[in-house]
Amino acid sequence: VDLSNANTLRLPAEVEHFSAPETLEALAACVRDAGEQGWTLNLLGGGSNVLLPTRLKGAVIRPRLKQWWLDTRDDAVMAYVGAGVNWHSLVMILAQRGLWGVENLALIPGDCGAAPVQNIGAYGVELSDVLEGVQVMSRHDETLTWLSFNDCAFGYRDSMFKRSLAGEVIITRLALRLSRTPRPVLGYGDLARRVSQQPSSFEIAQRVCEIRREKLPDPTQLPNAGSFFKNPLISADKAEKLLARYPNMPNFPQADGGYKIAAGWLIDQCGLKGARFGAFGVHEHQALVLVHFGGGDRAELLQVAKRITAAVQARFGVGLEIEPRCL
Ligand code: EPU
Repeated sequence: VDLSNANTLRLPAEVEHFSAPETLEALAACVRDAGEQGWTLNLLGGGSNVLLPTRLKGAVIRPRLKQWWLDTRDDAVMAYVGAGVNWHSLVMILAQRGLWGVENLALIPGDCGAAPVQNIGAYGVELSDVLEGVQVMSRHDETLTWLSFNDCAFGYRDSMFKRSLAGEVIITRLALRLSRTPRPVLGYGDLARRVSQQPSSFEIAQRVCEIRREKLPDPTQLPNAGSFFKNPLISADKAEKLLARYPNMPNFPQADGGYKIAAGWLIDQCGLKGARFGAFGVHEHQALVLVHFGGGDRAELLQVAKRITAAVQARFGVGLEIEPRCL
């Protein structure tokens, strides 16, 4: 099965077996089947944060669990959302209904089931700020369990689903805690400047869409996987030394005393914004995004990433980590 249209970077990719189950029963049957056949099982959501190899062994499952509902409790409203629901559509529907909590996460591509894996985040909000629990199916015996927020061990673009739960479970449903009381998060200057005095959550979602459309390439026009690198976390000592040399370096102090710095800025400073390397390039408006002009594959992309990482290492002594996941 051809997966080149199932990943937003449009990397050429093929897998032997593919299924897109629409119910929990069908999903369990797919898992059982793969187990009986001895196939390696890979999960795919919207394909917006993965680097696919040209040939993938075994089977790919894309859960198409599209049910969702709201459960009202006083001021809080819980949203129970199937893994196959499109994240951005959900955000816009919730914001339109006047609910607060996910409006800053508008226009992030992909399916809800993938969102907890990397703990999607933007404009001062992370999924973990509203996530109450995650329902998962065991890959071993197809049983369903709810994991609590604490079980997920969320961090910056990180969770247990990338660690000890990788290969163990399939995310089937999210429980999100939303609020009816306005809770605007406007710490991101560019966003604060664009909204009215008392913005609705829908207005915030719309402004976030505007900002993203200005900076980030639309994957249907120019294939990409969003941020290609994580923003590095460095020690206070290292940050001080860099700031002494580069006083304008964007930096974000962290709770543990360290600093998060902007990988896009580092790459930009190396003069690489808009640079082209064969089939791939550094996006002209946001150096953190790598784009695919066509004809390349994952091996070539990883070589390009290596050259960029080496340039940043040589100039700033800071290592960059790739953000999308290699299947
Ligand atoms: N910058 C540059 N040149 C560039 C890019 C950025 O100088 O080419 C500077 C900006 O001027 C700014 C700073 O770097 O001072 C940070 O840039 P920006 O606000 O655009 O955000 P980011 O740190 O590059 C992160 C997320 C994005 C998210 C934005 C907004 C990561 C890896 N990326 O990017 O998430 O939308 O913040 O909150 O944390 C994604 O994960 O795919 C993604 C797009």
